[in-house]
Amino acid sequence: MKIWAHRGCSQIYPENTLLAFEKAAGLDGLTGIELDIQLTKDGEIVVIHDERVDRTTESIGYVRDYTLSEIKRLHIYADSNPSQSIPTIGEVLDLLKDRIRSGLKLNIELKNSIYPYAGMEEKIVELIERYGLQENIVYSSFSALSLEKIKNIDSQAEIGILDTRVSDCLYKLKGGCGAVALHPYWRGMDLPAEKIQEYSVRAWFTGHLYPERPTGSKLDLALLEKKGITDVFLNEPEVYLNEG
Ligand code: G3P
Ligand code: CA
Repeated sequence: MKIWAHRGCSQIYPENTLLAFEKAAGLDGLTGIELDIQLTKDGEIVVIHDERVDRTTESIGYVRDYTLSEIKRLHIYADSNPSQSIPTIGEVLDLLKDRIRSGLKLNIELKNSIYPYAGMEEKIVELIERYGLQENIVYSSFSALSLEKIKNIDSQAEIGILDTRVSDCLYKLKGGCGAVALHPYWRGMDLPAEKIQEYSVRAWFTGHLYPERPTGSKLDLALLEKKGITDVFLNEPEVYLNEG
């Protein structure tokens, strides 16, 4: 089973921050890091899961209503660590580029199902090309149209299609969005493993995020493998990788 850090090491550090990504990048055996992108009012790509800043910062409102300089003034609480800011994708790439060049994968999820964020596909592909990191990037989205756009901009881009059920992922993949990997919710495995065995099947989870306390309960990865899952996006990758 391949292990990815979902929003970085997001159970013990605040999600989608340089701190959570730096900790993830230090884990031996990690396949990749997943993160979420949105656009500010002035069209800058920032790394944040929600369309609003309310849950993770001291402020309120939509990401798309903040300019970059305004959003950078917000704080993300991080306990005994210095408070974090919402990173730009450029800051994350600066932090991770050497690890990505040496094989760590980066899954960039375009958060554009609620607001389409005009131009986001062009901007992110152009930036990844500028950094020369194309080989180890996986683009994903719940929006098949957005992924099709990415594929039209870069025909070599690796695409993973998101949905809740694996059957819906497969349906969207066959619709021509250019995906080669299925990204279902882990409880959405509604097809026999034989039907999906030719694909990477990367399952995502809800579950405990910082600052909620970890529960200590663990997944049976062997059972998930039997369902056809090849990769898991975990908030607590360190728990599984430290096992050896
Ligand atoms: O990419 C898998 C997963 O991240 C999708 O759900 O809500 O955590 O972005 P969410
Ligand atoms: Ca995500």
